[in-house]
Amino acid sequence: MLARVLVINGPNLNMLGRREPDVYGRQSLAEIQQEIEEMSLPDDIEIEFFQSNHEGALIDKIQESCGLVDAIIINAGALSHYSIALHDALKAVKVPVIEVHLSNIYARESFRHQSLVSLAATGGIFGFGSLGYKMAVSAACELISRRRNVQEKNN
Ligand code: DQA
Repeated sequence: MLARVLVINGPNLNMLGRREPDVYGRQSLAEIQQEIEEMSLPDDIEIEFFQSNHEGALIDKIQESCGLVDAIIINAGALSHYSIALHDALKAVKVPVIEVHLSNIYARESFRHQSLVSLAATGGIFGFGSLGYKMAVSAACELISRRRNVQEKNN
């Protein structure tokens, strides 16, 4: 059975590669996505990518994905630190949510030390640059496989 993983990126992440490369790296978002597509993943895993600079568009996407995806990976950019609306949208999702930040948000300015996304997430990965997305995809695949094994045992 096909399993879907949705990778969401929030504001300013479309600028990766050009934006503060010393903090966020030199790879563009398209290059990071390509690296994920080149990962050797189980055949039945489908990855969808979505990026928006708009809070409402991110929330719409999360709501639309309910019941259609098996895991969500999200780097909500600055919205992570203050968007209660995004937090609430993620809380309503019944699948694992993995938070990603390229930078180590806890070693930066104090306004980045709080993440409302974290409060709604299953877990998070931060500070590993673009590698964090690949770690998150691997974790999502593992969680999906474990969940399936439990479901099969219960049937
Ligand atoms: C970020 C960290 C946020 O604080 C920042 O606003 C971003 C990128 C990261 O990936 O390190 O836009 O989410």
